[in-house]
Amino acid sequence: MCGIIGYIGNRPACEVIVKGLKRLEYRGYDSAGIVTEEGGELFIRKGAGKIDELTEKLGFLKMPGRRGIGHTRWATHGVPSDVNAHPHTDCTGKIALVHNGIIENFAELKEELLKRGHRFESDTDTEVIVHLIEEELESTESFEEAMRRALLKLKGSFALGIIYTGEPDRLYFVRNESPLVLGIGEGENFAASDVPAFLEYTNKAIFLDDGEYAILTKDSYVVKNLDTGEIVEKPVHEIEWTLEMAEKAGFPHFMLKEIYEQPGAIRDAIHGNADVIRAVAEEIAKYEKIFIVAMGTSYHAGLVGKYLFQRLARKVPIVEDASEFRYEFEDLIDENTLVIAITQSGETADTLAAMKLAKKKGAKVLAIVNVVGSMATRIADLTLYTHAGPEIGVAATKTYTTQLTVLTMLAVELARVLGTVDEDYLNELENGLKSVPEMVESVLKYDGGLRELAESLAEKSDFFYIGRGISVPTALEGALKLKEISYIHAEGLSAGELKHGPLALLEDGVPVVAIAPSGRTLDKMVGNIEESRARGAFIITLGDNEELKRVSNAFIEMPEVDELLSPIVYVVPLQLIAYHLAVLRGNDPDKPRNLAKSVTVE
Ligand code: AGP
Repeated sequence: MCGIIGYIGNRPACEVIVKGLKRLEYRGYDSAGIVTEEGGELFIRKGAGKIDELTEKLGFLKMPGRRGIGHTRWATHGVPSDVNAHPHTDCTGKIALVHNGIIENFAELKEELLKRGHRFESDTDTEVIVHLIEEELESTESFEEAMRRALLKLKGSFALGIIYTGEPDRLYFVRNESPLVLGIGEGENFAASDVPAFLEYTNKAIFLDDGEYAILTKDSYVVKNLDTGEIVEKPVHEIEWTLEMAEKAGFPHFMLKEIYEQPGAIRDAIHGNADVIRAVAEEIAKYEKIFIVAMGTSYHAGLVGKYLFQRLARKVPIVEDASEFRYEFEDLIDENTLVIAITQSGETADTLAAMKLAKKKGAKVLAIVNVVGSMATRIADLTLYTHAGPEIGVAATKTYTTQLTVLTMLAVELARVLGTVDEDYLNELENGLKSVPEMVESVLKYDGGLRELAESLAEKSDFFYIGRGISVPTALEGALKLKEISYIHAEGLSAGELKHGPLALLEDGVPVVAIAPSGRTLDKMVGNIEESRARGAFIITLGDNEELKRVSNAFIEMPEVDELLSPIVYVVPLQLIAYHLAVLRGNDPDKPRNLAKSVTVE
């Protein structure tokens, strides 16, 4: 997730762009850059660091020109550095481009471009795009046509801003699976990843759809279809948000915004790992002794990973809380050990210590991380990124579902390498994973109903979350979300454990949230729900089997999904319930008391 802002009009472009970048900083903040044009010359300033520092250091506000594009980066391919910062230029220096998204087939495209003599300055996937356009421009007079032809060669997600010295009066913006919105002004036009970047100047917006591009001049705009080049008529929306609302895309809290970003984030996780997962699976296939280490929500992702590895790759990892692993397992780690560390921030002290210990003992370390260039990525031998973009709410939401996405991809590929499971089933799972974003979208539509449910539960003081098999971690995660932001006591446990003690706590009206996707143990789960009901508990069930309605006080009907993919979809209503309960109780879910986003001390 990066931020893009483009401007064309009569104002100094750099001023509009720097302000826009500040408003987009939440989308990424490891590096930034600006290109402007004046007199047929491109001016580019870019570097690693925060926007304020760079504005000072590089003199962003002294850049000439009335048209330009800015970019704030959240690294995906290539570490945060001056050369990897956007914009990127072609070999002639006439085209400059910024990108938000991930190009899946960049490695093969880059290899071909290198063979044909193109010079690359950066390690980014983005740079292939600008060289591809340069190449197409050799065989056509029309820049627009060259751009279109080049972009049709890309696989993956991209929002682009493009400037070309050969056309002094225009800017190009393209959208495919990464957000882009046009701002329509009087004698000036804008484009950005998000409305707040230009809301100060205009509240008229056009939301581009996937596979569309726009050509902006200062007095006009046109939107076209990328496949055909035909004009598309687009409605102009009047934005009624205040600036503060717009920063959160109209959501009252970052947490809610991030919950709603999950379909896009899961898609990015799939695209971003499609071309690297095989090599990682081959590398780790030889290890029998596997530990998964993590804390908090990332630990719950690790527990889901255990079920996936067991069921698909027939490997049984030991999942350990990193704070325990670092003191308890030293004697068990050697060069035949694989340690998989899962961490959103890549900076959690206990997880880093566990990784360092593993390295010291000669183990292979694979990190699954969200923040590119974080310490975890520097310690690990191998890294897979979750591509969720910055997560500002302290409660992990989209970073959890993207961790699960990456773990699912890894387990499927590992099973493929090892030949442990029928290929047809692996293909089915892979296709199923691709439709998970739509399932999450359908579940997000229950938000209003879940808020009403939360209203009826706001005075409760204890919650129980129960599941079986791969749904046990979902129960733990549901309980953690509730505790950390609503401050209501909650326990997550395996449903089978109920009658070994916790059942004694159930009495009239105590909420029991049952995670009950169809699968191996659904009938056992129904038994556990009956057990709780008999003690007067208020049963809230998540499931896809109508029969569950009979045993529930509230039934949340979930889409049919393979049990192994269900954790990604089923956690979403639990995030929403926790969110609404926190707000109803007067808490700020983005900044829960006593907690920090990243726990960098032991
Ligand atoms: C979850 O909502 C919490 N913010 C917390 O449990 C978090 O998952 C944990 O601190 C681990 O952080 P990490 O993924 O950045 O390592």
